[in-house]
Amino acid sequence: MTSVTPHPAEDAPAATESYISSSDAHSAHNYHPLPVVVATADGAWMTDVEGRRYLDMLAGYSALNFGHGNRRLIEAAKAQLERVTLTSRAFHHDRFAEFCTELAELCGMEMVLPMNTGAEAVETAVKTARKWGYRVKGVPDGRARIVVASDNFHGRTTTIVSFSTDAEARADFGPYTPGFDIVPYGDLAALREAVTDETVAVLLEPIQGEAGVLVPPPGYLAGVRELTRERSVLFIADEIQSGLGRTGRTFACEHEGVVPDVYVLGKALGGGVVPVSAVVSSKDVLGVFRPGEHGSTFGGNPLACAVALEVIAMLRTGEFQQRAAELGEHLHSELGLLVGAGKVAQVRGRGLWAGVDIDPSYGTGREISEKLMDRGVLVKDTHGSTIRIAPPLVISKEDLDWGLDQLRAVLGA
Ligand SMILES: Cc1ncc(COP(=O)(O)O)c(C=O)c1O
Repeated sequence: MTSVTPHPAEDAPAATESYISSSDAHSAHNYHPLPVVVATADGAWMTDVEGRRYLDMLAGYSALNFGHGNRRLIEAAKAQLERVTLTSRAFHHDRFAEFCTELAELCGMEMVLPMNTGAEAVETAVKTARKWGYRVKGVPDGRARIVVASDNFHGRTTTIVSFSTDAEARADFGPYTPGFDIVPYGDLAALREAVTDETVAVLLEPIQGEAGVLVPPPGYLAGVRELTRERSVLFIADEIQSGLGRTGRTFACEHEGVVPDVYVLGKALGGGVVPVSAVVSSKDVLGVFRPGEHGSTFGGNPLACAVALEVIAMLRTGEFQQRAAELGEHLHSELGLLVGAGKVAQVRGRGLWAGVDIDPSYGTGREISEKLMDRGVLVKDTHGSTIRIAPPLVISKEDLDWGLDQLRAVLGA
């Protein structure tokens, strides 16, 4: 593990500024990044173009659960780069079957449909549920409905933003895709009310990441499981951010002993090396697809499969889940002290994942993030005064404590 090095608080030097202004001139402004330009990274640490080091407390929104430059993943990728990287699904390749078998087994499921990004996997789950609804459940053609939760984040495609409740994500992108019903997250009675004979699926994040790491009330996921089973509706768990170790378990649903019908996975499945996503389910559900009905040129490519196979092997040891659980307990107890001290209004989360609502008198989430950046810690704000903490699961306790020290310093605690 990398040891702690003090981070000098200085103004962003000229090289950083000139890089950012050139980036601003030639890239669409669909992001508002912190003013840091990363050049290299290792484990939980990143180094910028000025040679300054930062502790990564975001981990690519959980895509980097295994840390930057994880040797096992880099070696797996390198070995595959020398063999074959892309075949398209027009042909078989010799890593595909193993990837699907291993991932299905990790999920306790039977079939895998690989894609690349999270949004593509969510789109795939939507198509799967609709087709299952027509072909298996017997919903009249064109009538399938999917129930989703308010404050959801499932990606950025036109269909997905159609059922977003975030005005910023949605405005100006209509006309919207119909067929979605939105209920308040965590409200089982509202969900029960919304499910009709035409409902084919309930699509939920077991913990809402982008909304500020919102953990649903105890019993909610189990209630969703019971209701969906009762009403012959698929329970689709979007575990793109919550899954693969982040919460201290392989899947966040496990905290309530729940197994959904469909897992949607992404982010950490590609180990922060390549984009890999997948829909994982039973033969009854994913078996509805026939050749030509869905696909992707890059989905399930040999390089993606090789890296994801290593990710799966690492998760099989349970080591990363255990680390997330242990360090997570420490993280939450330290953050809890800040709540007690009145510096922080609320902390939510599970495992090595926290949404921290800072008292607005200390500044907006963005301002807090910038102050942390000046002290060598990178986090990201969301929704006003909330910051998200989700370091790579390989972070050392010493580094995590150093990061927390910087947060305490910013809050004058
Ligand atoms: C729960 C969830 N679903 C879907 C996505 C979309 O993934 P991607 O950005 O890879 O399309 C995200 C990304 O943050 C996510 O957190």
